[in-house]
Amino acid sequence: MVAKSKINKVEKITSEHWRLLLLAYPSKHLVQNYLQMGQVFDIKKDDRPIAILVLEAVSERGLEIKNIAVDPRFENQGFASRLLYFAIQYSKNHKYQQLQIGTGSTSFKQLYLYQKFGFRVTDIKQDFFTKNYKQPIYENRLLLKDMLVLTMNT
Ligand code: ACO
Ligand code: ACO
Repeated sequence: MVAKSKINKVEKITSEHWRLLLLAYPSKHLVQNYLQMGQVFDIKKDDRPIAILVLEAVSERGLEIKNIAVDPRFENQGFASRLLYFAIQYSKNHKYQQLQIGTGSTSFKQLYLYQKFGFRVTDIKQDFFTKNYKQPIYENRLLLKDMLVLTMNT
């Protein structure tokens, strides 16, 4: 399913945006690093952000989805799919040749969704999460250690 919502460019990050950003990466420090360089977009419901997307150019030809998150109250209603379509279109329109996204090896739902859109696993960053986060992250009852990088040609 793909939601039919309007996507807005975000100029000012509010506390509600932060709440969404930290769902995807629970480290303010790490998120802050890429917010400086990235373009931020959101989807609103009743004037409040319920989904967020951060895109960043990682090379002349490569764009990365640094953050994608949906308010848990609105999950599984097609909002992330809407943002993924938008990101792919953005990459094409801005002449990037590759779009990439990193996710946890234990992130089964995310891996399903990204592969459904045509992303392929192209790299593994072993111990990314255990090295970069002070607190252990558990997902689907597993300790998250490794990051999978998925890429698609656009
Ligand atoms: N396993 C497999 N598939 C699942 C599962 C599951 N456990 N649960 C739901 N799904 C499917 C749904 O059926 C749906 O597929 P379908 O459209 O083919 O039926 C799909 O997953 C969900 O699609 P959307 O509704 O478009 O996605 P949603 O709006 O729920 O957002 C997201 C997905 C962004 C992963 C959301 O769950 C979220 O914010 N999670 C927490 C933050 C997060 O993990 N963000 C991504 C981190 S990676 C990064 O930011 C670069
Ligand atoms: N997503 C996540 N976890 C799931 C899902 C799902 N869609 N479905 C079931 N599970 C969980 C169960 O809850 C259980 O976990 P838990 O014990 O923590 O509750 C676990 O997966 C299944 O554990 P078992 O019952 O021990 O596994 P099972 O006897 O069902 O066998 C197997 C698993 C071998 C993958 C079986 O489903 C199968 O034969 N599949 C077809 C053949 C196959 O794919 N084989 C592996 C190919 S790789 C290779 O052969 C080297």
